[in-house]
Amino acid sequence: MLSKKLEKALNEQVRIEAESSQVYLSMASWAEGKGLEGIAQFMYNQSDEERLHMLKLVKYINERGGHAQVSALNAPKTDFETFQKMFHELLEHEVFVSKSINDLVHVTLEEKDYATHNFLQWYVAEQIEEEALARTILDKINLIGNDKGGLYLFDRDIQQITANSVAITPK
Ligand code: FEO
Repeated sequence: MLSKKLEKALNEQVRIEAESSQVYLSMASWAEGKGLEGIAQFMYNQSDEERLHMLKLVKYINERGGHAQVSALNAPKTDFETFQKMFHELLEHEVFVSKSINDLVHVTLEEKDYATHNFLQWYVAEQIEEEALARTILDKINLIGNDKGGLYLFDRDIQQITANSVAITPK
């Protein structure tokens, strides 16, 4: 059985993962509108992944006798100016999510809930991969600079890039 404090903290993470899904959906839509098909597909995939992160938490909370709550979400922004800035925001967002996961892990230790501590290790590893992925993409963007041919190839190739392809920890 989850403690009330931990249930509340897990539900907060449900909201953060749901908002992450919306943020990346908004990025996908913006990129699609700019004709950046590969980047759009990448962001649609990211959005789907975040929804799965949310669902995994929802099921865990309910399985442990809590009540997973579906709450109102903050609306993401709709204009990202340039794709370079957008990918910087993706990294910043993942750093923010990593911090919230760390805070959540801290609560499991305070509450001495080692099952939830164990459950959250999947998220800890996932965040390492997601941050690494965002940094890898930013490195590629820096290499391209303003080269139009480079952007064309980047947009084509990014569809193949997933968190697993730059994994530095085993799944
Ligand atoms: Fe579910 Fe990208 O954090």
